[in-house]
Amino acid sequence: MKILFATSEALPLIKTGGLADVSGSLPPALQQHGHDVRLVLPAYRAALAACTDLQAVASLELTGSTAPVRVLEGRLPGTQVGLYLIDSPRHFDRPGGPYSSTDGRDWPDNPERFALFARAVCALALDQANTAWRPDLVHCNDWQSGLVPALLSLQPQRPATVFTIHNLAYQGLFSWETFQRLELPYDLWSLHALEYHGQMSFIKGGLAFADRLTTVSPTYAQEICTPEFGYGLEGLLNYRAAVLTGILNGVDYSVWDPATDALIARHYSATDLAGKADNKAALQRHFGLPEDRNVPLIGMVGRLVEQKGIDLVVAVLARLMRNAVQLVVLGSGQPQYEQALRGAADHYAGLGVVIGYDETAAHLIEAGADLFLMPSRFEPCGLNQLYSLRYGTLPVVRRTGGLADTVVDAGSSGRGAAQATGFVFDQASPEALHTCLRRALAHYGSADAWTRMIKRAMRQDFSWQRSAEQYLALYRDAIEQNA
Ligand code: ADP
Ligand code: GLC
Repeated sequence: MKILFATSEALPLIKTGGLADVSGSLPPALQQHGHDVRLVLPAYRAALAACTDLQAVASLELTGSTAPVRVLEGRLPGTQVGLYLIDSPRHFDRPGGPYSSTDGRDWPDNPERFALFARAVCALALDQANTAWRPDLVHCNDWQSGLVPALLSLQPQRPATVFTIHNLAYQGLFSWETFQRLELPYDLWSLHALEYHGQMSFIKGGLAFADRLTTVSPTYAQEICTPEFGYGLEGLLNYRAAVLTGILNGVDYSVWDPATDALIARHYSATDLAGKADNKAALQRHFGLPEDRNVPLIGMVGRLVEQKGIDLVVAVLARLMRNAVQLVVLGSGQPQYEQALRGAADHYAGLGVVIGYDETAAHLIEAGADLFLMPSRFEPCGLNQLYSLRYGTLPVVRRTGGLADTVVDAGSSGRGAAQATGFVFDQASPEALHTCLRRALAHYGSADAWTRMIKRAMRQDFSWQRSAEQYLALYRDAIEQNA
């Protein structure tokens, strides 16, 4: 099969979250099955800097750009996967992130940027870019590529389309005036297309028009069909339920494995755990905490936003820090939580906080902590709990989305008890989180059972293999039906 994978971020080019991990590792996994998979991204400044082998292969005249838009071709660094970068310097060659400036504000021309990206992807998909390559299927991801299935649906001869929802909370909502300014076909302004309560919704382009919809875990696929998680899109998602499935994300174990990880203090594995204690000491030093191998150390890495339950963590800090326990938090996000954590770190000797993005520290937390905290209010898949399992850093998670699908609670009865890999709680409340943490800390006291659970967690296999096979089966279906 020939697959064009459209995404707004991919490692090692540019990353704001898990979508970059997925886009950097799923396409190589698909290619290993012998398929021709090519990635397409905007030519951000960071992406241009990371590639050394780019060649201009086409120049496109597109609505939304007065200058011709170049298509650059190369390879995703470190892989054999083909890469197209959509080069419109006015839209993409600027400092800052893919969606926002360095001060965290969304680029005001995001609708123009991602409409132009979608139009370029469509040109590639229809072989209008002189690449002499016509994909059988285009796989789009999140709102930034949501217009692609909508625009392709207007074409008589088009490739099949798959749209993956990595996070329904981000929808790309803009005004009716923006819709007009983008010069999109008026047919797309309808309740059955892009219109959403008087606004234009980029994500609806994917949800309404893609041949197949996926989310990144089976539980999230069910959750988004309910009012609690559906943001008013649950009606449409229920209508499309027959083509909606959940496929769990995988882990790139060439990056996330304590036996080979280049960013940690000392390697270790399920058969030789000795090195984990050295990582714990290194982590305590890194965060300026007292070095103590016996005190339970809890780690947290992620965006400091309510999705991740950071408000719950802030609410239990005073109670939690009364116990003999240490906590390290790495992340950035909503200013009020950054401030609350900074303030608390001055107050509690056992609390270490780093506000910012730090790849090395993220790996060290996975390797050095005893427990990994992820009390998310919702979590489409979540990658850090999967990394934590491999590092023997037992996850403490809320039973939602991908967390529910990947962590087995130590309090499970029957068969579950023998398969426990972490600690799971239900209510999104400080009380429920605190009770779960106390339960986890009580388990920490029983050394043998704890070590058994660590080893079991480390043996879990969430490699891309199985997920890639599920995507391939889905692609085949979609292509067959589109033929
Ligand atoms: P989401 O995509 O919702 O943010 P995921 O768990 O899917 O959540 O992926 C988050 C990814 O970003 C992980 O690879 C995680 O290690 C990384 N990450 C998040 N925040 C930071 C940070 N402050 N420093 C380093 N890595 C981070
Ligand atoms: C989103 C979700 C996260 C998921 C990631 C990759 O950012 O919030 O749960 O793991 O996408 O699919």
